[in-house]
Amino acid sequence: MPTHSASAGSSKKSATYVLGTGSDESVRLGLQHRLWSAATHILWERAKIQPGQTVLDLGCGPGHAAMDLAQIVGPTGRVIAMDESASFLKQLHDNAVSRKFHHVERVLGDVQDMESVLPGEQGQVDAAYIRWVFCFVPRPEDVVKGLAKVLKPGGRVAVQDYFNYERCLTLAPRREAFTKVINAVAASWRSRGGDTDIMGKLPGMFLKNGFRIEHLDVVQRMARPGSSLWHWPNSFWQTFVPKLVETGFITGEDMMAFNKAWEEASADPGAFIQLPPVFELVAIKD
Ligand SMILES: C[S@@+](CC[C@H](N)C(=O)[O-])C[C@H]1O[C@@H](n2cnc3c(N)ncnc32)[C@H](O)[C@@H]1O
Repeated sequence: MPTHSASAGSSKKSATYVLGTGSDESVRLGLQHRLWSAATHILWERAKIQPGQTVLDLGCGPGHAAMDLAQIVGPTGRVIAMDESASFLKQLHDNAVSRKFHHVERVLGDVQDMESVLPGEQGQVDAAYIRWVFCFVPRPEDVVKGLAKVLKPGGRVAVQDYFNYERCLTLAPRREAFTKVINAVAASWRSRGGDTDIMGKLPGMFLKNGFRIEHLDVVQRMARPGSSLWHWPNSFWQTFVPKLVETGFITGEDMMAFNKAWEEASADPGAFIQLPPVFELVAIKD
């Protein structure tokens, strides 16, 4: 099965990952992947990911995208799935074993230290995919520098991430209790070195580090109560809002007011939510 599982000792270890790696988060990531898989597949086509390639999935989580990528590159290709969570990688391993995907490799390590984590892969990778990871890392430019080294000339990187998160993520009609919690979400990510505006900075970082930008666009969606997409934010509130209370970003009363606002909106056929826009970028290494 997975051919290796390497661990990198980093002197610049990040703070504990803000969303956590519990089983509830793993299930949420599965639903999220399902709801975003159509946009993701279009992006992979833009990045020309195809059979036989070596593809890196950075911050792969439990591997929902990595397993899809494994189907696309096929047994003549390789998927190198990297994450700093051993428990997420174990789930990917179990899934890959049960599906006999021998070409999925797990790598335990920090995406900000790619050169030391993947010493044997420098200049060998055809494409890299990184979704909802840049917004959580304190040293995003180190990820871009690592990509510049690990990709072959002409290799592509496909990114999906956030910009303008807390100003766009809005319940309609507006509710103050909701807005307060969204601002706390952004503050909690920033407190661990994350950045809900990261996509505003990434094109410049890629250009500065030897890439051309082939594609830059945004997918803006909204959801109405009762739709499958309504469950995307719903699953995030369930897993993350209690953590905001535990970490002191909101009070228990704030959470109760938020839950009431969400329940009322969920029962209101006239309500909708503007979801956080997902920006996408494909960059090619010169
Ligand atoms: C929101 S999840 C996204 C998972 C996956 N990319 C997806 O789209 O389903 C973020 C992932 O990044 C990982 N992560 C966060 N910081 C990391 C770092 N510095 N190095 C490696 N993985 C990291 C987390 O463990 C988590 O699995």
